[in-house]
Amino acid sequence: MRAVVADRLGDPSVLQVKEVPTPEPGPRDVVVRVGAAGVNFPDILSVAGTYQHKQQVPFIPGMEGAGTIHAVGSDVRGWKPGDKVIFGVRPGAFAEYAKVTKPDGMMRLPDGWSEIEGAGYRVAAHTAYHALVHRAGTKKGDVVLVHGASGGVGLAAVQLAKHLGAYVIATGGDDARLAIVKSHSGADAVVNYRTTDFVAAVKELTGGKGADVIYDPVGGEVLEKSMRAAAYGARLLIIGFTSGGPSTIMSNHVLIKGLTVLGVRAGETIARIAPELGRDYIEVLPKLAAQGVMRPHISHCFPMERAADAFRALIDRQVVGKVVITTA
Ligand SMILES: NC(=O)c1ccc[n+]([C@@H]2O[C@H](COP(=O)([O-])OP(=O)(O)OC[C@H]3O[C@@H](n4cnc5c(N)ncnc54)[C@H](OP(=O)(O)O)[C@@H]3O)[C@@H](O)[C@H]2O)c1
Repeated sequence: MRAVVADRLGDPSVLQVKEVPTPEPGPRDVVVRVGAAGVNFPDILSVAGTYQHKQQVPFIPGMEGAGTIHAVGSDVRGWKPGDKVIFGVRPGAFAEYAKVTKPDGMMRLPDGWSEIEGAGYRVAAHTAYHALVHRAGTKKGDVVLVHGASGGVGLAAVQLAKHLGAYVIATGGDDARLAIVKSHSGADAVVNYRTTDFVAAVKELTGGKGADVIYDPVGGEVLEKSMRAAAYGARLLIIGFTSGGPSTIMSNHVLIKGLTVLGVRAGETIARIAPELGRDYIEVLPKLAAQGVMRPHISHCFPMERAADAFRALIDRQVVGKVVITTA
């Protein structure tokens, strides 16, 4: 089969399409004929060698995709060849075929969704759901401030927070992309944090109160400033650091405002300490997807040969929602 391979760690130019052996399913595995695979910021970090999960080279990147089941292992129940699915792998999705070692975690491609849409659903939806529901307990009437809302995990969080009945303020670094965020997600307000003081904007929009939940995949100065946009008792969700690095959180702000700072690791928390929460991914998210909640906005689609361009679209902050790599 053809696959996007990183023979060495580095910038996106290390990615090349190569012929590699097609995976065979073990007794508990499923092999999916990949139609499309979603590109996530962690893929960039993995290929650069800076992600928390280190990969041995050579490896095939890609954490998620959608396609058609090609083969099932002898012990697998509930799935059969021909089923259309959304799947996760760690890693290996940027290939014509991917071996899924935890088929229980797959979901059916919702009716009416293309494989390209399905490919961009899983990582963003899991992250947004775990953060807003499991970690922050977001409820109707909360003011939710979502940073990096033009990105994959950001846009899904805006969509989910709206579904939960929150008043949502979405930030990003480009007016044109924020306009698409607003029309796709129904965000109540959008704020460009490159040109506007988002703290003042949040205060004005909330009558001085601030945000009850802050969802931050950007880090750096954005999280530091967010302390001043937080309402008393707010929950701060630390999702990632696309701005380049972690932030310094002032403990006096945490104390004075009674804040709760929550680290979010969508997969790890469930794998390590709270497997029962994983049921929500299997039972709740397919129902939400069927209602169109967190249906991805796909702004860029590249063939495997242009995987490096797909990575660069994220690095260059061109994306609204998701970038997808197609295998056909
Ligand atoms: N905790 C978890 O479980 C979990 C799961 C998945 C992903 N993540 C993390 O979440 C973050 C976002 O991932 P993603 O896949 O959604 O990424 P993405 O689609 O590239 O979105 C990231 C957003 O960050 C903003 N940004 C601000 N400064 C940036 C910079 N210097 N370079 C690039 N983007 C910048 C961009 O919006 P503007 O250009 O509008 O500012 C962009 O839309 C990453 O740090 C990732 O590792 C965490």
